[in-house]
Amino acid sequence: MEITALQKKHIELFGNSNPLTVRSPGRINLIGEHTDYNDGFVFPAAIDKAIWFTASKNDKGLFRFFSMDYSQSFEMKANDLSISNVAWANYLLGVANQFKKKGYQLSGVDVVFGGDIPIGAGLSSSAAVETGFAMVLNNLFGFGEPNMEMVKMAQKAEHEYAGVMCGIMDQFAIVFGKKQQAIKLDCRTLDYEYANLNLTGYQIILVDTKVKHSLTSSAYNQRRQECETGVKILKNYNPDISALRDVEMALLREHKNEMEETVYRRCKYVIEENNRVTEAFEALHQGNIRWLGELMMETHTGLRNDFEVSCEELDVLFDFAKDFYGVIGSRMMGGGFGGCTVNIVAQSETERFASEITKHYKQTTGNKPSVYKVTIEDGTGVVD
Ligand code: GLA
Repeated sequence: MEITALQKKHIELFGNSNPLTVRSPGRINLIGEHTDYNDGFVFPAAIDKAIWFTASKNDKGLFRFFSMDYSQSFEMKANDLSISNVAWANYLLGVANQFKKKGYQLSGVDVVFGGDIPIGAGLSSSAAVETGFAMVLNNLFGFGEPNMEMVKMAQKAEHEYAGVMCGIMDQFAIVFGKKQQAIKLDCRTLDYEYANLNLTGYQIILVDTKVKHSLTSSAYNQRRQECETGVKILKNYNPDISALRDVEMALLREHKNEMEETVYRRCKYVIEENNRVTEAFEALHQGNIRWLGELMMETHTGLRNDFEVSCEELDVLFDFAKDFYGVIGSRMMGGGFGGCTVNIVAQSETERFASEITKHYKQTTGNKPSVYKVTIEDGTGVVD
């Protein structure tokens, strides 16, 4: 359905009836929030919501893009690639620029793209666009870059063209996602392991606050700096420390008085969260979903009180979900300051949960949330 609409638009705009088609999904993260840029562990998975691309070469030396979501066209010379004032186009240009920096020659490309990942919901629609477009260029021009390289290029595009100093989790999860599997990634070594996400009797439900507070990217970059400040101080006591990943809680406590209280709390959260990812992986291996759920609840509390990236709307959802019969895990997900909570809900209670949390959120905030049941699907790839 999605693909047909895109292909139709592609013919209408560019006259090419046989474009390359690529699907690039959104992601959830079970646990391991704000750990990726601290060289820690994360536990994400790709989902059934996705962005699709149709793409073909043109001989005009132009990048011609059409965004279905914004119903807007964009055009630039293929050898230009400067940051534009059209925000959505920068995600594509940033990726193209990474290929250019590697010495690849890019000629004209026509692209139509769009999908059903809600924008600003913390499901990484921007990373899906970046990795999807990397896949488009890699296939269209036969560059032969390996998947992990495309992940890194997409991440760099976000740093350089969107100004968000993100970690590697989103781009990685989106490319390496596998049906019904969550992935435990070591963000330092990039070693990863799949774990069967067998939630027998439970369902993952996202509840979208529908808000995205404006401080999102500046606060994100600030958190990153606060973590680095902590590392700098602790490095004085152990030169082997290069990221919070290397810090034991005992060492942090010992030097608590040498850092600002805020920096202490940021570091404390990250160390605890890293440990939780390891436990969560173990919990899933044992089929102990309740344990996973408890860890998720602890994560929310840490993100709210110590890392301070939650917001009123997310807390309204969390506070309601945590006491709701049938909910065994709930927390805010992603960078913070809006977006979704991720909830693990007993299959038998999903409808009741969806309607009750909608009612409660509306009464409390005046806004209507969106509720999504998600399934775990494959990562970015060419669609035949
Ligand atoms: C955003 C970033 C990720 C990660 C999360 C928080 O999604 O893009 O790299 O840091 O926030 O876990």
